[in-house]
Amino acid sequence: MRQVLSIKTNEKEYSIEISDNSFNKLNQEINDATRGQKRLIVISKKVYDLYYNKFDFSEDELFVLKDGEQEKNYKNYLKIINRASELGLTRKDIMVAIGGGVVGDITGFAASTYMRGIDYIQVPTTLLSMVDSSVGGKTAIDLEGAKNIIGTFYQPKAVFINIKFLNTLDKRQFLSGLGEVLKYAFIEENCGFETPLYLYEFLTLGSEKILQKEPLTIIRMIEYCLNLKTAVVNQDEKEGGLRKVLNFGHTLAHALETITKYKKYTHGEAVVYGMFFIINWAYKHEYITYSYYRLSIELLEKYGFRTLNKVYSNEKLIEIMKKDKKASDGKITFIIPISKKKVKEVKLSPEETYYMLEDGERFSGLLSP
Ligand code: GLY
Repeated sequence: MRQVLSIKTNEKEYSIEISDNSFNKLNQEINDATRGQKRLIVISKKVYDLYYNKFDFSEDELFVLKDGEQEKNYKNYLKIINRASELGLTRKDIMVAIGGGVVGDITGFAASTYMRGIDYIQVPTTLLSMVDSSVGGKTAIDLEGAKNIIGTFYQPKAVFINIKFLNTLDKRQFLSGLGEVLKYAFIEENCGFETPLYLYEFLTLGSEKILQKEPLTIIRMIEYCLNLKTAVVNQDEKEGGLRKVLNFGHTLAHALETITKYKKYTHGEAVVYGMFFIINWAYKHEYITYSYYRLSIELLEKYGFRTLNKVYSNEKLIEIMKKDKKASDGKITFIIPISKKKVKEVKLSPEETYYMLEDGERFSGLLSP
């Protein structure tokens, strides 16, 4: 099965293929899409170890990047740029990112800055990067304590999503991707996709097949998420407004990831804790009804997610949130649910955020009506 979606921003139009094609076919597609171009292929170490023999890349054109968020740093960025220069890549040439979000983000950033911008292709290999980071052109590297603080908006030439990679993705990483998938269920009404997808219902009813990685269901699920994401990016590539809805659950998530130095939670887990928190808060403050609140918590729990019991210092969380790219005028931005499948942005002062975090039940426990 194969689905093709497209992104159309002011500067670029490109397609996103979602398939369960053979690796042979994927190899062919990468070769076709880079024909006549010199290429630098940045590949995750894990993916290299598992799949190198499936592709006919030459060792010379490869840059193998160790796995982990800590690798998304300026030293590796400079190494990639140096390698591109050694290989003699020119403005007409191309980079290819094969791996999860770290590889995609750093390669995209390198491609966007090398000679003021050359082509790149995204081949995401984790569920998280398939449903989010490989699409939409956000590229970045981190500084210690500040995730994605250096980056660009720079769209790839193409995205090839092949779900066969998910067969070797470990359970924790697969669930992490599902955290990002669940996010889309809560924002569908904001995205402006032309027809209703009923993603919330699809994820509620389809949980067993999804958890078993049933291929057709997984392709459909990715397609639905990307229908929503592409609709948002087509309207607001540079996050002037609407694109912020994609950050549902992310304000607290980024703070939790930073406070634990990216070692304790995967990104998707942190997003799920962020969603539990904000759903609880929205119900408590009467933004959503009790029935939607219960359904929402049950949806997260269907996938085995539970609220977070660990408590971190509110002062430290707020210090981190104040540095978030989404913060402005000294205020911290939260995306909160306001009705079924719909969210809105609220901006809170650090004092208001303090009370929000202090507000009891913050990461845990179901509230009663
Ligand atoms: N990951 C959120 C976005 O692409 O805007």
